[in-house]
Amino acid sequence: MSLNSPTALGSLSLPNRFVMAPMTRSRASADALIQPTAPAYYRQRASAGLIISEGIAISPYGVGGPGIPGLWNQAHVDGWREVTRAVHDAGGRIVAQLWHVGRASHPSLVPGGAQPVGPSAIASSFKIFAAEKRVDHVVPRALDEGGIQELIGQYAASARLAMDAGFDGVEIHGANGYLIDQFLHASANARTDEWGGSPAARARFALEVVRAVIEEVDPDRTGLRLSPSSSFNDMADAERPAVFTELLDQLTPLDLAYVHVLEPGVVGDGALPAEEADVLNSEWFRSRYSGKIISAGGHTRASAEQVLDEGWADAVAFGRLFLANPDLPYRIMTDAPLNEPVRATFYGGGEEGYLDYPSLHDDDRLR
Ligand SMILES: Cc1cc2nc3c(=O)[nH]c(=O)nc-3n(C[C@H](O)[C@H](O)[C@H](O)COP(=O)(O)O)c2cc1C
Repeated sequence: MSLNSPTALGSLSLPNRFVMAPMTRSRASADALIQPTAPAYYRQRASAGLIISEGIAISPYGVGGPGIPGLWNQAHVDGWREVTRAVHDAGGRIVAQLWHVGRASHPSLVPGGAQPVGPSAIASSFKIFAAEKRVDHVVPRALDEGGIQELIGQYAASARLAMDAGFDGVEIHGANGYLIDQFLHASANARTDEWGGSPAARARFALEVVRAVIEEVDPDRTGLRLSPSSSFNDMADAERPAVFTELLDQLTPLDLAYVHVLEPGVVGDGALPAEEADVLNSEWFRSRYSGKIISAGGHTRASAEQVLDEGWADAVAFGRLFLANPDLPYRIMTDAPLNEPVRATFYGGGEEGYLDYPSLHDDDRLR
């Protein structure tokens, strides 16, 4: 199956199967306003069949680092509208990735030095970059029922704002050890109420967020990202296959636009060695889920074509290669040389490593 063939993910019609993976660039203002250079950055990459935005915080308490853009007020909507307009003017499509990091935050990153929240009062053993250095995580406050319901409402409210800002849909960030993933995993969720304990209870928060979001955004414009094999942010669970089977079973009738699965072997932003215990890859997903699947993580042209040929995925997301190659579809389809991603400019800074990766193709479009 060619990457350069059209497909539909729900009501998102993609002219090709190249997806730009969500990538935090940590360049937003202190008020979580997307930077003025973002429209140009995303427009450069509009030849993707679909762009997934960088993670966008649904609340000021949901950030895990500096420079994360938000979507909880009108100023944020106005900023993102410039981005969606730029992508649409260039013929592209873009969905907003909705993000809350849960316990993977730090008092120094949020208003009033608030304690981060999570399913249970269990700290991540990872380090976090806060107050200019790498520090230990603090023990989060375990959410009570009211806090859980408030957060679910915030996902829905932010989804509404994303549509107001002109996004073509939303992707719920359920991956990489952040809030939704924390509920899925026993290493962060030791609850014994209806939000933890059995696999069905661990899957409940993810499903309730999805149900609340699709009240605001059509299910066929809503996706969910999952990383069922990753240990990033201290995720572990002996019952993972059961938890994800339960989740996929209950997602099926909700008819989402897509489920986006991180393949084993690449964790976080790809900088850490992979230590996955489980192999819950797109092939495993395909055998349990009949809806549309995006596969991500470490893809080359060959691996992307393999998951499409095998029928394990309908589209393939590229992260670092899209960051470094604005015209990635054109380059891959013509076997042109690829620019190397420069890690030093991934997060923070200005236009260097952001707007200045060269394109080979005049208008950055794959025709
Ligand atoms: C700079 C950078 C920032 C990232 N930020 C996010 C993010 O905001 N949300 C997310 O789900 N994944 C994020 N990721 C993970 C990517 O979406 C992708 O899964 C990962 O890079 C592996 O794909 P690749 O091998 O094609 O780069 C980030 C990756 C990079 C390199």
